[in-house]
Amino acid sequence: MPGSPQLIEKLLASLPTEQASALTRLVELADRRSAAIYLVGGPVRDLLLDLQPGDLDVAVEGDAIDLAAHLAEAADLRLVRHPRFGTATVSGDGAHVDLATARTETYEAAGALPSVRPSTIDDDLHRRDFTINAMALALNGTDAGRLLDPAGGRADLDAGLIRVLHTASFQDDATRILRAARYEARLGFRLEEATHDLLVRDLPFLETISPARVHQEFARTLLEHEPERALMQLANLGALRTLHPSLHFDRELTAAFERLRKIAPRAVPAAYWPLLTWHVAKSATEPVIARLALTRRQADAVRALTELRGRTPRSGARPSETVSLFAAQPTAAVWALAAAGSGAAREQAHAYMARYRNVRPLLRGDDLLALGVPPGKPVGEVLARLRAAKLDGEVRTRTDEERSVRDGLIRNDE
Ligand code: CTP
Repeated sequence: MPGSPQLIEKLLASLPTEQASALTRLVELADRRSAAIYLVGGPVRDLLLDLQPGDLDVAVEGDAIDLAAHLAEAADLRLVRHPRFGTATVSGDGAHVDLATARTETYEAAGALPSVRPSTIDDDLHRRDFTINAMALALNGTDAGRLLDPAGGRADLDAGLIRVLHTASFQDDATRILRAARYEARLGFRLEEATHDLLVRDLPFLETISPARVHQEFARTLLEHEPERALMQLANLGALRTLHPSLHFDRELTAAFERLRKIAPRAVPAAYWPLLTWHVAKSATEPVIARLALTRRQADAVRALTELRGRTPRSGARPSETVSLFAAQPTAAVWALAAAGSGAAREQAHAYMARYRNVRPLLRGDDLLALGVPPGKPVGEVLARLRAAKLDGEVRTRTDEERSVRDGLIRNDE
């Protein structure tokens, strides 16, 4: 069946100009080489859902790296090749196209990366995770505009269902468990019944996934607009406790994620990481850090939050006391406390991050020297005292600060 141009027109209209012209160039080059090319996976799904497609994933029946190199040259774009995987990325000036040689995959061991062999677009679609990601749009030749949908992805898109292509899918690659929850949450879809049962049956296969791959999936989930939805689903499915028995997610954390976005949109996603471990007992902190392969910075924030959770700040504490409590802590941990803590802890963490941490005296080191403070350590000490006095409202103006320094000097002389 020949294709119809409608979907391609829709695609080109939905893309930023740079992406559209890179794609048009690519089609010309592929035509000249008689290589069949297809838009595959996520961008096809998004196109059919009337969502803006992200990066363009193109499958090539033929040599993807060779075609990518020609595109990079013709359009003066950057080329990165991955010969081991038969893939290449062409990018620059607002364009980003991922090209892959159409392939078939065999999983020799559960959770291990598959061995791949060049093949047809049909095989390439059959190796994929979910029906809604197993569609392709032919981009050239007489087929141009034809939607290839061997697994019924379009019907599942209409029905809002996440469905695997075969019963061993989660065993082959248990990261699909984490991906399924992400798509459900992002698209407002639900797991088709048999897929749900397979997922629950195959939860133990999460053990086969390396910490680095688990990390990557969580990192992608935390970049979603509302990651708490996917995390809640992972908790409900039992996936979180399978990854580590002390990983929990609940309504309280859902509210904390929402609050964090509201009070500190720029602390996202960094502060999501410590929040994610809010319910983890101190004794389980290190194993959880290892299971999620947290970076040093993320791990430090998690450890700091574990400590902060254990301290109950005095309500009515002076601002300068609050500053000494939080000043040495990673900001992601303090934001997490501001989002999930209760009472005084939450208020003080918020006040510190939003106001206190940037309070500085008006006088600088040079001003103190001019007022007679001895150089070296005393200057630092007086600045710290001035900052505390300013935080606590004891000095306001420059004159107040100067008076306070002079008084201090007199007292020190006595
Ligand atoms: N894929 C798969 N199994 C995986 C990972 C990926 O079958 N474990 C396939 C899916 O067909 C997916 C495609 O590879 O559509 C590209 O993967 P990725 O970039 O992770 O997915 P997108 O669908 O592009 O996801 P997103 O919208 O989150 O970028």
